[in-house]
Amino acid sequence: MEDYKYLFKVVLVGNAGVGKTCLVRRFTQGLFPPGQGATIGVDFMIKTVEIDGEKIKLQIWDTAGQERFRSITQSYYRSAHALILVYDVSNQPTFDCCPDWLREIEEYASPKVLRVLVGNKIDREDHEIPAEVGEEFAARHNMYFLQTSAKNCDNVDKLFTEIAHELLQQAKTRDLPSESHSVQSLSDPLPSSQSINQNCCSKLL
Ligand code: GTP
Repeated sequence: MEDYKYLFKVVLVGNAGVGKTCLVRRFTQGLFPPGQGATIGVDFMIKTVEIDGEKIKLQIWDTAGQERFRSITQSYYRSAHALILVYDVSNQPTFDCCPDWLREIEEYASPKVLRVLVGNKIDREDHEIPAEVGEEFAARHNMYFLQTSAKNCDNVDKLFTEIAHELLQQAKTRDLPSESHSVQSLSDPLPSSQSINQNCCSKLL
């Protein structure tokens, strides 16, 4: 058995082509591989991180953005501890779809899921969505907010380690047993404490 104390499930959603696979690859493998094809259904990768001396295994689910896979991908929301909604800062329609994605999240995910809005591709010069606009949307919908570049590696580690940190705090609030190998059940999403939810409005990761 692997030596880790907590297992958290993180699911990425968002329009096709916003860079979900690249964010996951960058974080788990340190790569920005060229020629990534569109994700078919769902894919997942694992990475173990150490936060405050605790080993945390992140199971990261990368879902296809294409509409035709929606019924498959929705079934992965329910057991997520954290959901990352990604848009492309250089592509306005990907941001305009965020309310639709949120409706899906509200319908299929646990109401207590940790929700993070991510504007990816900040390395590009042709920004269409200013940071303040993304930040304001996140604040309005009680989400964390961060801008990233999978290409340049900006904020990618920060995104996943801050999520792990938040989920760890929530797990500790529940006073979970501390034996090694004790693992959160994936079908039992962590309740995020009221204080965390209330404080996360407009908070930048
Ligand atoms: P689906 O699997 O279809 O849902 O797409 P996806 O969201 O997983 O997008 P993917 O990671 O496959 O990336 C789509 C395209 O965007 C690729 O050509 C990537 O090289 C490019 N891309 C991803 N992240 C970045 C980034 O941070 N900066 C730039 N400039 N391009 C990026």
